[in-house]
Parts: sequence; C-alpha cells; structure tokens
Amino acid sequence: MAILICGGAGYIGSHINKELSKEGYETVVFDNLVYGHREAVKWGSFIEGDLKDPEEIEAVFKKYSIDAVFHFAAYAYVGESVSEPEKYYYNNVVNTLNLLNVMKKYGCGRIIFSSTCATYGEPERVPITEDMPQKPINPYGATKLMVERIFKDYSSAYGLKFAVLRYFNAGGADPEGEIGESHNPETHIIPLVLDAAAGKREDIKVFGTDYDTKDGSCVRDYIHVTDLASAHLLSLHHLEKGGESGFFNLGNALGTSVLEVIDSVKRVTGKDFRVTYAGRRAGDPAVLIGSSEKAQRILGWKPVYGNIDTIVSHAWNWHQKAEY
Ligand SMILES: NC(=O)c1ccc[n+]([C@@H]2O[C@H](COP(=O)([O-])OP(=O)(O)OC[C@H]3O[C@@H](n4cnc5c(N)ncnc54)[C@H](O)[C@@H]3O)[C@@H](O)[C@H]2O)c1
Repeated sequence: MAILICGGAGYIGSHINKELSKEGYETVVFDNLVYGHREAVKWGSFIEGDLKDPEEIEAVFKKYSIDAVFHFAAYAYVGESVSEPEKYYYNNVVNTLNLLNVMKKYGCGRIIFSSTCATYGEPERVPITEDMPQKPINPYGATKLMVERIFKDYSSAYGLKFAVLRYFNAGGADPEGEIGESHNPETHIIPLVLDAAAGKREDIKVFGTDYDTKDGSCVRDYIHVTDLASAHLLSLHHLEKGGESGFFNLGNALGTSVLEVIDSVKRVTGKDFRVTYAGRRAGDPAVLIGSSEKAQRILGWKPVYGNIDTIVSHAWNWHQKAEY
C-alpha cells in the first residue's frame, strides 16, 4: 500500500514526504512542478502530472495501490486569486473534484487536506476555534472553504474519511537541513526577511504600523513545518484507526508581530538590514491566532518548535545553502 502526496514537490508536501518515509510508508509524489521542485522529492517515487487531467491521476491509481491521499496541490497567492479567480477555482476546486472522483473509482476513501486560516476571513476574536464562522475575504480562502464543503458532502454520500487541516502561517525548514521553503515568487515573510539578511533584497517593507496590536504591526501565528508534518502523520493514524473525519486548526496559539519576526531574523542571523514602513494592505486582518486545542485533544498533537527564533534559525540554516 502506498500514500499519494499531491503537491509533494512543494514546501509543505516535501516535509510531509520526509516524515512519512521516516515512518516506513511507501510514498508517491504527484506534482506538475509549476511551483514545486524535483530536487525536493528526496523520498519515494515521483510522477510528474497535473490534477487537471483525470487520466494522469488514474494512471497513478492503476500503478500503485493507494491507501490514502495527502492533498497539498493548489495555488496559494492571495493577491493573484483576486485578479485571476478563474485560475484558482479551476485548480483548487475543480481539480480537487478530479482527484476525489478517481479516488472514489478506485475505492480509496481517506484524504488529508491543506486548508487555511484564510477560510475564517476577519475573525471576531482570537484565538480562532474551528467552530467560529468561516467568511473568507478573498477567492483563495473561498476555494479552500468550498473544498471543505465538498468533503462533507462526499463523506455523507460516499463515506469519504477526511482530515482537513487549517494551517496558520507555516515557517521554518527541516531541522536536518535537507529541504526547505522556496516559493517563486516568494510572498511569505520569513524567507523575504531572510533574503534581506542575506543581502538579496535591499530592504524589507512593513505594511501597516498602526494596527491595534502590541507594536502596531500585524500579528500572525507561526507554525514550524515539521510540526505541521507531525500533525499530518497523526491525522493519518487517526483515520487508519477508524477515527471520525474532522476539521483541525494547526497553529501555536502564539502571536508574533511582523516587527518581532524582523527582530528575530536580526538576532538569529547577526545581520542588519534596512526596514521601511508603508501603509496597511487591503484585506490584512490585524491579528490571526489559532487555537489548536482540538488537534491536541483528538489527534494527540503537540507542536515542539513554537519559538520564533527556532523557526527562523532552521529556515536560515536551509536558506544559506538552498539547493533549489
Ligand atoms: N505555506 C503556508 O503558510 C500555507 C498556509 C495555509 C495553507 N497552505 C496550503 O498548503 C498547501 C501547500 O502549500 P505550500 O506552501 O507547500 O505551497 P507550494 O506551492 O510550495 O506547493 C504546492 C505544490 O502543488 C503543486 N501543484 C499545484 N497545482 C497542481 C496541479 N494542478 N497538479 C499537480 N501539482 C500541482 C505545485 O507545483 C507545488 O509543488 C497549499 O494547498 C496551500 O494552499 C499553505
């Protein structure tokens, strides 16, 4: 039996591939390499393919006996989702249906899915719990919420078992330095600030200094990618043991401001760089912090790399010698 990892050549999927392989699972990565990296697939088999093509998906199910699917493959640029929603609804929603329908045809009934805190939109309060209203404020968040809904309906009608994992801000890199974060274009704050520390960017821009937060900049909940990986493995075990399908937040319940991330990068790298200040960006909530109490209680998950300096130092370790 094998585990299929759609989008496993990307940042988060490659880290889950490593942890699954360490536990002895046979893995098959399926990725079109639009944003992923062939070099990031260091474990298991690799198949270059696109979820838009049901025949390419089916070829994988014919070749391997797939026991469960991890689904990371999506577009995730919030701004682009506003200007090009069509691209997002097709790739994130329609192509997920292609995957689910092939799974159904081949009797594969377990899926673990990357959702996001962006499904909550502007939260009424923090920390955000899973039962709070989901009102996404951009097409990206809307696509993820639609997929969540599809899972519920496929579960009732066809018995699909799922774990939907709503990540807060993923950060860091494999502590052993074998893989790391490399998006092109990069929009995530930690690698951007590391670029400034490495002299690859002239400066780092802080958007908004007048939020009602501890230092006026936006506050986010950073979660180490290896902690995300352990939650994925626990989700798989939960479903394997016959556990109920569910929706789980994955965060540290710790709020770290943009200015604190910048301070952390300066502290960890020992480098100084220019910081500039600009107005708020539309659609950036002041504070996003998630409660992961449910994942801890039901999955037995415990993040171990909560400290922002640890997240930044693992990212920096990889960033300096990044192979891709
Ligand atoms: N990075 C974060 O902080 C974060 C936060 C919340 C949710 N997420 C979600 O987690 C998932 C993974 O994020 P990531 O940061 O690793 O992104 P990523 O872009 O590094 O990985 C996504 C992978 O999917 C592949 N892919 C996209 N469309 C495909 C298709 N049609 N067929 C085959 N492969 C396809 C890409 O080539 C890429 O390798 C995404 O679904 C994203 O929405 C990420």
